[in-house]
Amino acid sequence: MNKKPKAIHPFFDEHNPTMRLDLFTWPEVDEYLRHCKGIILPIGSTEQHGPTGAIGTDALTAQAVAHEVSKRTGVLVTPTQPYGMAEHHLGFAGTMSLRPETLLELVHDLLISLAMHGFEKIFIVNGHGGNIATIKAAFSKAYRTISTMEFSESKSFQCKLANWFMTPEVFKEANSLYGDKEGQHATPSEIALTLYLEPSLLSKQCELPPPSPVGPIYDYKDFRQRYFDGRMGSDPFLANARDGEKFLDKAASVLSKNLLDFLQEP
Ligand code: NI
Repeated sequence: MNKKPKAIHPFFDEHNPTMRLDLFTWPEVDEYLRHCKGIILPIGSTEQHGPTGAIGTDALTAQAVAHEVSKRTGVLVTPTQPYGMAEHHLGFAGTMSLRPETLLELVHDLLISLAMHGFEKIFIVNGHGGNIATIKAAFSKAYRTISTMEFSESKSFQCKLANWFMTPEVFKEANSLYGDKEGQHATPSEIALTLYLEPSLLSKQCELPPPSPVGPIYDYKDFRQRYFDGRMGSDPFLANARDGEKFLDKAASVLSKNLLDFLQEP
């Protein structure tokens, strides 16, 4: 993104590092809210990513994209929610999953907390496909809750879900670099981004046998049987840090634009 917004709020400056909520004080948040009602909430997952991918892939990538979007737009970003709905990955060691109803309540409660302070535009940057249905359900539940809250008359409250890995720009890039070796889980595009963020992960990369082909997802036992090493049609060995940097830039660029449009939308 070339054009940066002109001072959404007094804290914004072009050389600003990421605008992290966890490093703000409450008077600073109050001051921020006088000028901007938007906030970014990154959500990932803690789940297996094939035999060579980091368990934290979806949280690391969502956080990196969210932080970069914050840096480019000056919009505040909350701490990353590292756990998601990963029930189908529980057949592989290290996976930590929230049941859909737990994630729904968790996202709902976070949204309501933000609404209570006057945030009106919540932009969720998501790193995991398995979270999508539940996050959308949480939006509906939060809208219902807010409509019955005391301050509802004077408030507008809107949530937007941005799945960085599903943006057309990222899809196109992944397709041109990896073709059908991109697959659907432990993909070279997401692994590339983690290699850029955490160079130590490079030491885990190695050539792998052909993956199980992409197919349906049922329970964790079935998943383990169908996808023997956790991958779904992907060849993460194709990933490298240079491509990861490109993915970060592409995702941050399109999501920054989406966020600024969202903030201006009535
Ligand atoms: Ni993933």
